[in-house]
Amino acid sequence: MRPVTKDDRSDLPSRPLLERDVPLAALGRVLDSARKGRGGTVFVREEAGIGKSSLLRTFAQKCGPVLLLWGVCDAFATAQVLGPLFDMADAFDEHLRNLLSKRAAANVLFTALLAMVRRARASVVMVVEDAP
Ligand SMILES: Nc1ncnc2c1ncn2[C@@H]1O[C@H](COP(=O)(O)OP(=O)(O)O)[C@@H](O)[C@H]1O
Ligand SMILES: [Mg+2]
Repeated sequence: MRPVTKDDRSDLPSRPLLERDVPLAALGRVLDSARKGRGGTVFVREEAGIGKSSLLRTFAQKCGPVLLLWGVCDAFATAQVLGPLFDMADAFDEHLRNLLSKRAAANVLFTALLAMVRRARASVVMVVEDAP
């Protein structure tokens, strides 16, 4: 999947979702809290086809100015290690991109990612989709 950054949401759907006001509001509350300095993690779990990706895309469209990082796990038996981070790499700083291309250890990579998120001017919404 192409990386989606704050400047590129053109591939997000415009069709309105039915009956998703409650989870959209819940996601909005987590982002409001992040904007006040307290980040959070949300797990969106349900059966395939129920609308998890659509919910997140719609949220991404509506959530206002954020740095949006979006990565998807491969559906292969042997998935690319850290695959979602490669989807996001265009939005990473040079240091983090270098670490990623060198396949640095996960603890080094995620420490650098956290530092980048902390330095970001906008709130960061990072979506990691399980195998589609
Ligand atoms: N709330 C909804 N209202 C209308 N259509 C929906 C809704 N949620 C999902 N869909 C449609 O259902 C299909 C599967 O949704 P998707 O987001 O890919 O599911 P998942 O990611 O859970 O597998 C898509 O075609 C999507 O447009
Ligand atoms: Mg999906």
